[in-house]
Amino acid sequence: MKALADTFILNNGCRVPCVGFGTWQTPDGETAIQSVKTAIGAGYRHIDAAAVYGNEISVGQGIKASGIEREKLFVTGKVWNTERSYEQTIAAFEKTLSDLGLDYLDLYLIHWPASASRFTDWEQINLDTWRAMTELYHAGRIKAIGVSNFMPHHLAALMQTEVKPMVNQIEYHPGQMQEETVAFCKENGIVVEAWSPLGSGRVLNDERLLAIAAKYGKSVAQLCIRWCLQNGVLPLPKSITPSRIVENAQVFDFVISNDDMAKINDMPTFGGSGLHPDKIDF
Ligand code: A2P
Repeated sequence: MKALADTFILNNGCRVPCVGFGTWQTPDGETAIQSVKTAIGAGYRHIDAAAVYGNEISVGQGIKASGIEREKLFVTGKVWNTERSYEQTIAAFEKTLSDLGLDYLDLYLIHWPASASRFTDWEQINLDTWRAMTELYHAGRIKAIGVSNFMPHHLAALMQTEVKPMVNQIEYHPGQMQEETVAFCKENGIVVEAWSPLGSGRVLNDERLLAIAAKYGKSVAQLCIRWCLQNGVLPLPKSITPSRIVENAQVFDFVISNDDMAKINDMPTFGGSGLHPDKIDF
């Protein structure tokens, strides 16, 4: 990967720009509008949105304000937990599309799996949701479909369906690598995307990462983003700060050595959100 517009290729041939712009925790209104516009102006071509972030209308306005041609942009949406199942997913998709002001999505994800701890029919709920996604995909309303926060046991049933997930977006940053899930995805041709690639800011002051980043004359944020890419994972850094939006895009002028990659990959667990797909209560 040499530039923001370079792409990962999904198992259906779709191309996804290699660094996405995250919008989780971005305040709705002018902040979301301006940060999305700034990101597109800085060269990002991939915007990661979700209904539950509560800012899709503003994200859509930011896209519009950027003046970019629709087909040059890759936009992701996600169906929220209360909207899983067949009919509700179709309705949620229509609302997201209308809120974003778009007439198709590049990627639509199931935001979290229904899990055994909350639903006896969890596997069926996920399959019903997936059936709706598959139908929208076949109808050309979505270019690619996938999941988020799915572990291998959640993915198993979906791997038996006609259209396999193309993406799994999971929490992924130094100290939080979800090795089993990543290995499963790589074996099954599913591109892994990293939410909170900076640990939502929690890993940025880590002394070990600061020392490695300093060797390259880079910030820890840039190190984390580059580290994702070198591990074959697509990072989705979020910022509402113009200088950081630009900084996070400057990750193509250095290469982390194998030694330093190993050091980061070997770091013990730290800095995680604590959200586990089988234990969440939302
Ligand atoms: P802000 O949005 O106020 O600029 P993640 O992408 O892992 O969820 O992390 C997002 C958090 O990290 C936000 O609090 C964001 O702050 C902060 N952040 C993003 N980029 C940088 C950066 N380059 N340097 C420091 N903090 C950053």
